[in-house]
Amino acid sequence: MKYPDIAFEPLFTWVNRPRILFSPGVRREIGFEMAQLGGKRAAVFTDKGLVNAGVAEMVLAEIEKSDLELAGVFDEILQDARIEVINAGAAFYRRVNADCLIAVGGGSVMDTAKAANILIGSGDEDFQPLADQAGLWENATPLKPHIAFPTTAGTGCEVTSAMVVLDTKARAKLSVTHPYCNSDLAMLDPELTVRLPPKVTAFTGVDALTHAIESIVSTGAEPIADALALHAIRLIFKYLPVAVHEPENIDARGSMMLASTMAAMAFGNTMTGAVHALAHALGAIYGIPHGLANAIMLPHVMEYNLIDERLDRFRMIADAMGIEVGNMEAKAASEEAVVGVKGLLATIGLTETLKDFGVPTDRDELQPLVELAAADGQIGYNPRYVEEEDIVSLYLQAH
Ligand SMILES: [Fe+2]
Repeated sequence: MKYPDIAFEPLFTWVNRPRILFSPGVRREIGFEMAQLGGKRAAVFTDKGLVNAGVAEMVLAEIEKSDLELAGVFDEILQDARIEVINAGAAFYRRVNADCLIAVGGGSVMDTAKAANILIGSGDEDFQPLADQAGLWENATPLKPHIAFPTTAGTGCEVTSAMVVLDTKARAKLSVTHPYCNSDLAMLDPELTVRLPPKVTAFTGVDALTHAIESIVSTGAEPIADALALHAIRLIFKYLPVAVHEPENIDARGSMMLASTMAAMAFGNTMTGAVHALAHALGAIYGIPHGLANAIMLPHVMEYNLIDERLDRFRMIADAMGIEVGNMEAKAASEEAVVGVKGLLATIGLTETLKDFGVPTDRDELQPLVELAAADGQIGYNPRYVEEEDIVSLYLQAH
């Protein structure tokens, strides 16, 4: 099908950090690569789940074989990048005299490492005032050498210059940006993802899908991001069901890892939209894992966004899913994108609704959730304006 006319702002920027190395087993190059970046003594950031599953060890073993010194392993990271854990991670880095850091984990680990690196660079001990500033671009300088090994194929935050931190006191998720916070090198080793349980594989994969879809329809859409996001959708529709049902299929794991990174390169530049805004609120108040919250909200927000100015973009999304929409009328073609997402969710076993997490249906009880979603920075990039009552009805539809 032909690429539709695109009405994007006459000016956009494209951020293209970091370098990426992809190969099954690429972790074996860690010593050489960190030496290139000038790091000699590494602090490894990970979590206990990855330590217990032996995934952290897959990287630690390669550090041991290399000339890179291991200063210590910080494995206290919990679900979501929490401010108190970020502070503890930076204090750990200083205590063990590290001069570089290596993140081995999913979004929570990588975002914690990104935030800790900012804190280390600032010389401060508490990330809260920095998180409250949100945009940390003024006078920003490069941070400590940082290599990321994603262990999920979903968040893509090894490449984005933003992170989402959980303010546990305010029960809110805050987006913080810094031009050098992402890794200097993203080492994409799909062997690190083969032990990921099917459920987590499924919902982290849908996080990547949500990044791609929201990027293409966002108010920040532009052609470079389109190229990456559309191909991410092709890869996800082909390989996510395989990765869920055949966890050790390295081709599927590798393709999902690339899709995740590509979708993140796209949304890191265009931003996302209402799915992410509503999902962040669900994560902050009800602890729903990010990818799962996205999976629950995605079809409903897509339906809401089927406005005239975006029908061609949804047709393009349906086409990338492999659906024959070239000759269909615009509205019908765009609806196929929603059908495609629902079909994928069923295939990979994501049938949860908000009811499963105790989210209320009472209007007053929903108010804290609604306020958080309405204040989320991503909602402004949604292609259709979202009022508070629209948020309420989206949450109710997802019940
Ligand atoms: Fe996301």
